[in-house]
Amino acid sequence: MPKKMHLAWFMNFTPDEWREPFGQGGNPWDGRFYMEMAQTLERACFDYIMIEDKLMVPQTYGGSRDFALKNAMMVPKHDPAPLATAMGMVTSRLGIVATMSTMAYPPFLLARLCSTIDSLTRGRFGWNIVTSAEDLAAKNFNMDKLPLRETRYEMAEEYMEVVNKLFDSWDKDAVVLDREKGIYVDPSKVRTIDHVGKHYQVRGPLNTVPSPQHRPIYVQAGASPRGRDFAARFADSIISVASGVAEMKAFRDDIRARAAKAGRDPDEIKVLFCITPTLGETEFEAQEKYKRQMSSEYFITDTLASISAITEIDFSQFDLDKPLPEKLVTNGESGSLDKFQQWGSGKTLRELVVSGGGGLVSSVELIGTPDQVAERMGEVMEEVGGDGFLVTTPVLRVSRRYLAEVADGLVPALQKRGLARTSYAHELLRDNLREF
Ligand SMILES: Cc1cc2nc3c(=O)[nH]c(=O)nc-3n(C[C@H](O)[C@H](O)[C@H](O)COP(=O)(O)O)c2cc1C
Repeated sequence: MPKKMHLAWFMNFTPDEWREPFGQGGNPWDGRFYMEMAQTLERACFDYIMIEDKLMVPQTYGGSRDFALKNAMMVPKHDPAPLATAMGMVTSRLGIVATMSTMAYPPFLLARLCSTIDSLTRGRFGWNIVTSAEDLAAKNFNMDKLPLRETRYEMAEEYMEVVNKLFDSWDKDAVVLDREKGIYVDPSKVRTIDHVGKHYQVRGPLNTVPSPQHRPIYVQAGASPRGRDFAARFADSIISVASGVAEMKAFRDDIRARAAKAGRDPDEIKVLFCITPTLGETEFEAQEKYKRQMSSEYFITDTLASISAITEIDFSQFDLDKPLPEKLVTNGESGSLDKFQQWGSGKTLRELVVSGGGGLVSSVELIGTPDQVAERMGEVMEEVGGDGFLVTTPVLRVSRRYLAEVADGLVPALQKRGLARTSYAHELLRDNLREF
């Protein structure tokens, strides 16, 4: 029997695929489009859906907000937490992961929100831990500039200590709900945490009941050495974008070694790699679809605007038909930048945009019929050693048609090969992640 892979989907609360012929109209603000998306993924037995987030209106590309606003590129973007709850209300097994920044939320509020959503979803909530990566976002939170990466991770480590203490400030059996004795909560099972550290001072206890998972699932995407250590120490699932199978394997091996060094069982961490499969009735049709998508002007400018926003480097200043003039660095998303710039490859900027099977988001090229792509995904997992994939779309645009291609074409082809689950074994997201 082949080893099963975990499947998750990476999206955000922005307009769906609104410009293309099969778009839905670009008006998802009542949440219904994304609630249906969650139901579709539950039908396909995905582990989780993950909602990306940023806390600014981008204005790096071309030095203004115009491109982002006109094209609905990363803006408008609504808050993932209420959407996560709405998705949880219309599903019963799918895990729901929302991105929230340690820069934006005081730890007490974040722990309270996570606990509340985990109860509302009956134990299916996850938190994508980000430290934010843009000066533009920092300016919305009493700062002029983002702290340096080292400081952000140092603060995030203390932040995790605080939220973990808050989750533990109530014993699992603190709620006794004894009507005869007139006791709702046993006071001896609830404690203050009295945390006084370098960056945070929190008394506690939390004021919510222990949620079904006690704490949410932690998801993380650190790619720098410091980020990998952080993820290996705290995450239940790590998401990454690599260039090819060898890099995927090296990343996963590295994470597992770091986890073991931190005293954790590496099998507790599920490493998922971003992919953007292109599916067709025939291989020819899939290849044509891919070419059409990659050569559209929208695709080139959207990709450049998106990489500009997360690195705060204005890619509109570079010639599309020449290689980048120098190796670029950022205090923002360095992993995504390095994956994108492929320094030393000699590729022109235009070639960088189209290479890698969908620009910056695909770890391996997957173009073909559902059977061909499923076969290749199985081979890749075998070589990498696990644990699964995070399906996504270039610049995170999604249509119902594409969802159906994956849920009703690709996933059944994986299931037929024994590579994906055909039903959920558990109710809690944590248990489904640890099932295999
Ligand atoms: C697949 C993936 C998803 C990410 N999602 C978000 C997100 O939703 N919001 C965010 O601010 N950063 C996001 N990031 C950025 C990371 O959280 C992190 O800030 C970035 O990789 C820089 O950390 P590093 O310097 O350790 O690589 C994502 C990164 C990857 C690879």
